[in-house]
Amino acid sequence: MDVFTYDPGFSSTCSTKSAITYIDGDAGVLLYRGYPVAQLAEQCSFIEVAYLILNGELPDKNQLEDFDQTIRRHTMINESLKGFFGGFRYDAHPMAMLTGVVGSLSAFYHDTTNNKDPEHRKIFAHRMIAKIPTIAAAAYKRYVGLPFMYPQNHLDYCSNLLHMMFAVPAEPYEVNPIAARALDVLFILHADHEQNASTSTVRMAGSTGTNPYAAIAAGIAALWGPAHGGANEAVLKMLDEIGDVKKVPDFMSKVKDKNSGVRLMGFGHRVYKNFDPRATIIRDECHKVLKALNINDPKLELAMKLEEIALSDDYFKERKLYPNVDFYSGIIYKALGIPVNMFTPMFAIARTVGWAAHWIEMIADPTMRIARPRQVYTGAAERNVPALDKR
Ligand code: CMC
Repeated sequence: MDVFTYDPGFSSTCSTKSAITYIDGDAGVLLYRGYPVAQLAEQCSFIEVAYLILNGELPDKNQLEDFDQTIRRHTMINESLKGFFGGFRYDAHPMAMLTGVVGSLSAFYHDTTNNKDPEHRKIFAHRMIAKIPTIAAAAYKRYVGLPFMYPQNHLDYCSNLLHMMFAVPAEPYEVNPIAARALDVLFILHADHEQNASTSTVRMAGSTGTNPYAAIAAGIAALWGPAHGGANEAVLKMLDEIGDVKKVPDFMSKVKDKNSGVRLMGFGHRVYKNFDPRATIIRDECHKVLKALNINDPKLELAMKLEEIALSDDYFKERKLYPNVDFYSGIIYKALGIPVNMFTPMFAIARTVGWAAHWIEMIADPTMRIARPRQVYTGAAERNVPALDKR
């Protein structure tokens, strides 16, 4: 008889081999293709890192120019997709629109549906990375009821996104380079994180041989939850609810009361049992951005107080709970003028690179099998169906 291991939440199950991202959760190490994430965030652009994650090596000048141009060329979405946005209720969450519209991409691009063809896979990745900012910005415009803005392909990736979100027709709009670079850094830090819930979802859906855009839509749906990418939105809501530094001790007692159901959002991680290296970089970036933009946000002070109290509290120490990538990212997004319900779409834009790379790695692996976990059955033993009048 086969022997199975019961592993709820897959805490100790390796579902795949992968050469993309390395994490040492005890030491707080995160490497993309062997390079420390801090070095990449300091020295590279998001597009360079996207190339690295997809191709395994950093691009040289020509490769970077070529890749950058390719992504710029694919930023447009089919005109008929605009109609999809109009079909959503005016107050639809942008993540709901993102999930639906990205899924609908599977109804386009019939020229590249052969998953076995490496060229088709590459074009899918380029299209997905190029179009997701356009779709996210259109979701935002639909939400605020303003006209869509077409991509401006003379702009770099993040400037283009900011332009599509905040520019309006017939009004001049200059993208602030500080905002664009801050976004670039955040995107680098969010670009991949090995077998997290959304990436595992993309792999699981993809393992059936489904259309890759549909697999990415499944990943976006998984990302939305507050335990995963939705945490950045939840952190800002939590800071709003606490409201004042004086109320932090009260809030902390609620978090430590297991019956309250309240968690300190932006804290804790399945893999990191030490500082999340991304959180440290984001906290420094947060100070830098707020200073450069001359913003004094009391939320930063509140977040720092929460962090200080949590790090010296036995509850958090015993459970090895540290700030994660989402603890400070929302404060930066807010400083850039990005509304709270767009925080998770921002995460989705960056993580699209990782999802595409993992989908390609999986599809190209000759040992790949359909993902099909087993279960421990806890239901009734076999029994006979009684007649209706005997039930
Ligand atoms: N606040 C209070 N207690 C917590 C928290 C928290 N944020 N996170 C974990 N715990 C406690 C939990 O109650 C449990 O305690 P006990 O051992 O007494 O039952 C213990 O720590 C272990 O928690 P867990 O839920 O078994 O850990 P997990 O690995 O299954 O969950 C997590 C990881 C990230 C879902 C969880 O830490 C959490 O819910 N954090 C808040 C949400 C969040 O910030 N998510 C973003 C994660 S990073 C970005 C991303 O992946 O997208």
